[in-house]
Amino acid sequence: MTQPWGVNSRSNCNYDSRRIERPLEPISAGRRCPLSKQVLMMNKLWTKDSRRPGFVFTTRGRQGRCYAGDQCRPADGMNHSMTESNIVDSMTAERLEILRETNAAQTSLLELLGNITAQESVSDICRTVVEGVRKYFGFERAGLFLWDDEKKKFCGTFGTDLKGKTREEWGIFLGEEDGPGGPADRILAGSVIERGCRLGQPAAQPGEENVKADLLGLRARGKLYGILSVDNRISRQPISERELQHMTLMSHVLGNALESMQDHTALLKSEERFRQVAENSGEWIWEVNPDGRYIYSSPVVRSILGYEPQDVLGMRMLDLVGEDDRQQVADVLHRAFLEKTSIRLVINTQQHKNGQKVILETSGLPMVDAAGRLIGYRGAHRDITRETELEAQLRHSQKMEVIGRLAGGIAHDFNNLLTSIIGCSSLLLDDMDEDNASRPDVELIRTSGERAAALTRQLQAFSKRQVLRMESLIVNDIVRDMEKILRRTLGEDIELATELDAHIEPVIADAGQLEQIIMHLAVNAREAMIDSQASYRALQFPGVGKEMPVGVSEKTKRLVIRTAHRELDERFCRHNAQFTPGGYVVLTVSDSGAGITPEVKEHLFEPFFTTKGVGRGSGLGLSTIYGIIKQLGGVIQVQSRPGHGTTFDIFLKQATFQETLRQSELPAANTKGQETILVVEDEESVRRLIVRILQSCGYTTLEAGHGGEGLKVCAAHDARIDLIITDMIMPHVSGKQFIEQLRKSRNDFKVLFVSGYSSDDTVDGAIIGVDTPLIQKPFTRESLARKVREVLDAS
Ligand SMILES: Nc1ncnc2c1ncn2[C@@H]1O[C@H](COP(=O)(O)OP(=O)(O)OP(=O)(O)O)[C@@H](O)[C@H]1O
Ligand SMILES: [Mg+2]
Repeated sequence: MTQPWGVNSRSNCNYDSRRIERPLEPISAGRRCPLSKQVLMMNKLWTKDSRRPGFVFTTRGRQGRCYAGDQCRPADGMNHSMTESNIVDSMTAERLEILRETNAAQTSLLELLGNITAQESVSDICRTVVEGVRKYFGFERAGLFLWDDEKKKFCGTFGTDLKGKTREEWGIFLGEEDGPGGPADRILAGSVIERGCRLGQPAAQPGEENVKADLLGLRARGKLYGILSVDNRISRQPISERELQHMTLMSHVLGNALESMQDHTALLKSEERFRQVAENSGEWIWEVNPDGRYIYSSPVVRSILGYEPQDVLGMRMLDLVGEDDRQQVADVLHRAFLEKTSIRLVINTQQHKNGQKVILETSGLPMVDAAGRLIGYRGAHRDITRETELEAQLRHSQKMEVIGRLAGGIAHDFNNLLTSIIGCSSLLLDDMDEDNASRPDVELIRTSGERAAALTRQLQAFSKRQVLRMESLIVNDIVRDMEKILRRTLGEDIELATELDAHIEPVIADAGQLEQIIMHLAVNAREAMIDSQASYRALQFPGVGKEMPVGVSEKTKRLVIRTAHRELDERFCRHNAQFTPGGYVVLTVSDSGAGITPEVKEHLFEPFFTTKGVGRGSGLGLSTIYGIIKQLGGVIQVQSRPGHGTTFDIFLKQATFQETLRQSELPAANTKGQETILVVEDEESVRRLIVRILQSCGYTTLEAGHGGEGLKVCAAHDARIDLIITDMIMPHVSGKQFIEQLRKSRNDFKVLFVSGYSSDDTVDGAIIGVDTPLIQKPFTRESLARKVREVLDAS
């Protein structure tokens, strides 16, 4: 028969004062009872002063029953007189007690667990535990020592003092018993419980040294998260086996709680880290679900595609990919999703909200759940638009550089040959009678030579090895001077309009070359407008951003030449590598012609590239322009769409004040003289030709095959030398070095350089100022004679 029992509302148990046979008041089922108020186990004696059981007793009389006045022989060896109020039916009470205690402990545990799981940080969990252990289990003191398993050390302690106040300390640890082989050490080594440990320093206060504590390891999945310590400091009562069982259960719960909190904290941390990385990265970080629809988008999408992150959520990745790339990207995604493999560097074009194309490089990794099922992809789109453009620019300029070097080399060798051909044929013609039968043949040789020289000059222009006659000029003046000839060139069908900005600054350029540029562009435009069968629409001229005037018929063939000032800042130049910051004069030539296809555009500036039929175009026009502009330090850009006309923008750096000041007038020239001239030229045929021309003009000549010889000739010639004509490039000593050396011994001469247009000329100052006299090969008899006179007459 189950013996009923009861508790009162006070903390102490209150057994029935009558004999135990009298039934106690029944307790209501399921009533929760904190441990400190529970009826104690049958073999423990409850006294009014001590809340904890501590004395084992034996009974006399019927087994399992105690009567008032029974003597109790507790473990301390002293006899205690039992009063009626202390007595309980030991057997029944024990069974009841175990049941009830288990229930109560479970209830307490559940309650404590509820409290623990409600906490949001490790500190809060620890505080709840130590307070709960004290409150629910009645230990006089509880402490929790957190273990950092990665750093292999204790990282903080939580404990209740005797008044129940919780203290939290980080960075201290267990005390002296925590040394090697101590209880804490044993727990660290894997032991689950360490019973009756002596409290070490500094945890122990004076007089506490003999307090025995139990230590329990808090583990989850074998990993240690901390140590729970409980003791009864005041009563110094040993902790019972059952209490220890409850605490062990509790330690499992706590270990798991700490583990999941640590996981949770780690998750929060990694989520925060992901958020920070995603939001601060220049790349557009994304996540898509298994359907390929965006479920996360970092805010960078705003700057890359102009969309708000929430705008793209739900969109399929493919929705934003340009039509041309869609199939390819779809195939890659399909394969990756199917095989759960990574998406690697897929280059695709997407469209900005404003319609512009953006080139992206896409990479991603599959996301799988615990069961290995694909739950989506996470990755990044990198905007490589600028990079791709710069790469193309670099490739293009490298290609042009190689072609330029090749063209320049050919032109250089041809010039020497042509100089002889033209010069000798000129001399032959000088000596020939008008009615000489060979005259037409020699004339043909000369004109062919001159035509070949013109072609070579264009090649040289492209290879940026022309000798430019630099001066400060206003582009508007050049355009105005050319208007007449342009109108004639364009013909009546084509309207010519000029829009010249009156406020542009001067530029340093070669006027002749600028004219050549404008003429080439106009001729090309004319051909594009005449050839074009396309219907012309009202055009936008992107260079300056103006619409064609209203009322211009769709069929209007129109060439517009504009000048404008543009200030380019650092930011612009960072994205347009060919520019440097500063003020520019922009010369724009726009036509309403057939426009240029992207394929043609790619080769536009290459020498000999032409779409015109055989014999119609040499394909040297734009390459010449390109070379000249590069040599001037400018930039040429083209904007065109088939059927929408073409606009060429030429950017020339505006001149500084000092550069403008340096301009001067060219001297006048005539052809004959009697002065003494030294000719220094390593190419014998050229040297002989120059000497013959000079002699035919009446000059006295001296000759040298190189600089060293030139010095000797000068040393041997005491009389005055009026002019030295020297090749710029010669083996061993350049023309310039020769002159510099000579000036050390004499200074009675003038200098005329002959340029062979090699790359060294550029290094040696191929772009010469107006005060450095120079004649370029190939020259004619007239041009050399005129030049020589011009130099001799200059003051
Ligand atoms: N304004 C333009 N409109 C359309 N296409 C153009 C225009 N300017 C140049 N092109 C294209 O660029 C090609 C190269 O031009 P480039 O001036 O270098 O050579 P070309 O005109 O063909 O020959 P050349 O100028 O030596 O007689 C042309 O054949 C043409 O296809
Ligand atoms: Mg052309």
